Amino acid sequence: MIQLFNVSKIYHGDVPALEGITMRITKGEFVFITGKSGAGKTTLLRLIFRAELPTKGSVLVNNFNIARLQRHSIPFLRRNIGVVFQDFKLLPQKTVFENVAFALEVLGTPKREMNQRIMHVLQYLGLKNKRDMFPLRLSGGEQQRVAIARAIINNPPILLADEPTGNLDPEISLEIMHVFEDLHRQGSTVVVATHDVDLIKKIRKKVFCLDKGKLIDVIAEEEIAST
Ligand SMILES: Nc1ncnc2c1ncn2[C@@H]1O[C@H](COP(=O)(O)OP(=O)(O)OP(=O)(O)O)[C@@H](O)[C@H]1O
Ligand SMILES: [Mg+2]
Repeated sequence: MIQLFNVSKIYHGDVPALEGITMRITKGEFVFITGKSGAGKTTLLRLIFRAELPTKGSVLVNNFNIARLQRHSIPFLRRNIGVVFQDFKLLPQKTVFENVAFALEVLGTPKREMNQRIMHVLQYLGLKNKRDMFPLRLSGGEQQRVAIARAIINNPPILLADEPTGNLDPEISLEIMHVFEDLHRQGSTVVVATHDVDLIKKIRKKVFCLDKGKLIDVIAEEEIAST
């Protein structure tokens, strides 16, 4: 589903943000990307949703080399990928409902059905009674759940999350991770970048470890369970 072949990314100068990365994430897998600050986690995610192009090597999503996608095909790639960020990136002047509605592809869907879909997602994330509130009046965990609602409203098969719990306390972080686990159980491919080692130990999924732009280790789920 997601494959990188010998991928390097150099923003400028000669220090690569990523160097010689080859990895594969299969359909329906849940994986962590970890590593210290500056290791290249965000860059790796940005390459997958084509916010950046690799300097070298190729990134394949659903067997398409995304660097070769024509401009008009980029929305099709993005439709397959939901993204969640550390700072939520919600629209402050829109309500919870409106934030999610804004992301919904219209595609001629009747308004009533759209409303039903949004309410279904809000209910799933425990946000039904927050629908008319503005993001800044919500707790961090609630804001992140709104961001997740927005990311999954179009049922993308792939969900990417960049330090999704970086602004949350440990208990709420675990709750958010349980949401990702649940989405994974429902069939989504989930990729979470985090430097939170405690969280990784609790959730126990495959881990790709980056260090200074290089993939230095891949730890299988079973290995984490035994540590
Ligand atoms: N837009 C950019 N322009 C130039 N350099 C960048 C850019 N984005 C990242 N870098 C550099 O690339 C390297 C990897 O950064 P990246 O943000 O991918 O790391 P990270 O693992 O996500 O770090 P953090 O844990 O702090 O979020 C760093 O040296 C960073 O300074
Ligand atoms: Mg980052």
